[in-house]
Amino acid sequence: MPPLDTDKVVRVLNRILEQELAGVVRYTHYSFLVFGYNRIPIVSWLREQAAESLTHSQAAGEMITNLGAYPSLEIGKLLDSHQHDIGTILVESLETEGNALQLYKDLLQAVEGRSVMLEEYARGMILTEETHAGEVNKMLRKPGDLKAYDPE
Ligand SMILES: [Fe+2]
Repeated sequence: MPPLDTDKVVRVLNRILEQELAGVVRYTHYSFLVFGYNRIPIVSWLREQAAESLTHSQAAGEMITNLGAYPSLEIGKLLDSHQHDIGTILVESLETEGNALQLYKDLLQAVEGRSVMLEEYARGMILTEETHAGEVNKMLRKPGDLKAYDPE
């Protein structure tokens, strides 16, 4: 197996860690701002997403220390449009989850054929994040709409 560019891989993993930690804060923040009849299931969904982001950030941190490197204590960019209707929250979430997905794809590219552990990890995370994005996309469609939601 060709060698792993550890510095590069750690850089991507640290960005993943920061991005997932930002997700924890973001989903928790959103969960305070849901009002109306559908509040309870939406709040619990948002809290689940926060918990999942925490799990993802911990997995990234463990990979970093596996490589003998230092995990970042920074947190990714937090955007807040100060618009808290559910549609805006979901669009924001789709956008930031898309950034995370791109980082996992960058990771896969950096580790492919060089580390079975990291390759399996990256592929598994891509599967998880793409499935998640698909779910959010469905939530953004109008009932009865089959066509995928297009953010453009
Ligand atoms: Fe994630």
